[in-house]
Amino acid sequence: MVSNNKIIEVKNLVKIYGKKIKAVNGITFSVKEGEFFGFLGPNGAGKTTTINMLANLVKKTSGSAKIAGLEVSEKANEVYHKIGFAMQEVGLDETATAREMMQLHGRLYHMPKQEIDSQIKKLLKLVELERVADRYTSTYSGGMRRRFDLALSLLHRPKVLFLDEPTTGLDPHAKRLIWGHLRQLNKEGMTILLTTHAMDEAEALCERIAIIDRGKIVAEGSPKQLERKFKVKNLEEVFLKIAGHSFQEAELNLRATDPYARLRGR
Ligand SMILES: Nc1ncnc2c1ncn2[C@@H]1O[C@H](COP(=O)(O)OP(=O)(O)OP(=O)(O)O)[C@@H](O)[C@H]1O
Ligand SMILES: [Mg+2]
Repeated sequence: MVSNNKIIEVKNLVKIYGKKIKAVNGITFSVKEGEFFGFLGPNGAGKTTTINMLANLVKKTSGSAKIAGLEVSEKANEVYHKIGFAMQEVGLDETATAREMMQLHGRLYHMPKQEIDSQIKKLLKLVELERVADRYTSTYSGGMRRRFDLALSLLHRPKVLFLDEPTTGLDPHAKRLIWGHLRQLNKEGMTILLTTHAMDEAEALCERIAIIDRGKIVAEGSPKQLERKFKVKNLEEVFLKIAGHSFQEAELNLRATDPYARLRGR
């Protein structure tokens, strides 16, 4: 159930790396509690940078990013307990087993031991990793790491979940399995913001989508609304119509004074 309460509120958020690279160039959007929200955009558009600012992993340059009314950069500890994240680059402790990492994660979130154990059992089953739970994660394949990272992000039952390309590199069975669980978690009330390059994934899961290009939001709406607006048959065509340009062109524009001159000229 989607409520009217805005659980994520982003206003004029900017990230400039170094002196010149405007990775996020003043974006404004909000996500309601219980919503399944998708962030689409070409390589280098600023999706990961935005999620990283929301999860307080990257320091914003200016603007505001709030979760449950709390400014993320000011209330880091409170926000930390409300969110879960699985990032594009899976960073695991290679000298620990999956179970050990989950136990540590649970303790960091001050969860009671019994709850940690029951969550570990439930989540490892969910991502089909129970049988390898006591192996070092350094021995995991790429898809196993991604599935484990997702399980880890869910351990403390976050209210808001950020997933940066959660199914990239997963086989079709694992992908469907994860889709099913994400749908279920969302149905139970979890707000989910994900990025993906798979248009079928965005269509299957997301109620609302924002397309980001060169650090700006260039379109927003439900998949159906966007298809109608751009008079095309599917989301892939929407994407190609508004954000289909070469990567090099985008990178050059990020460094230009007015990256949107070309778009406005259309
Ligand atoms: N640590 C960094 N230092 C400098 N520039 C960076 C850094 N991280 C990202 N960038 C630049 O910021 C821009 C946005 O990158 P970001 O990773 O947010 O894009 P993205 O939308 O997640 O792309 P992808 O779909 O490829 O994951 C790019 O131009 C990238 O080169
Ligand atoms: Mg990214």
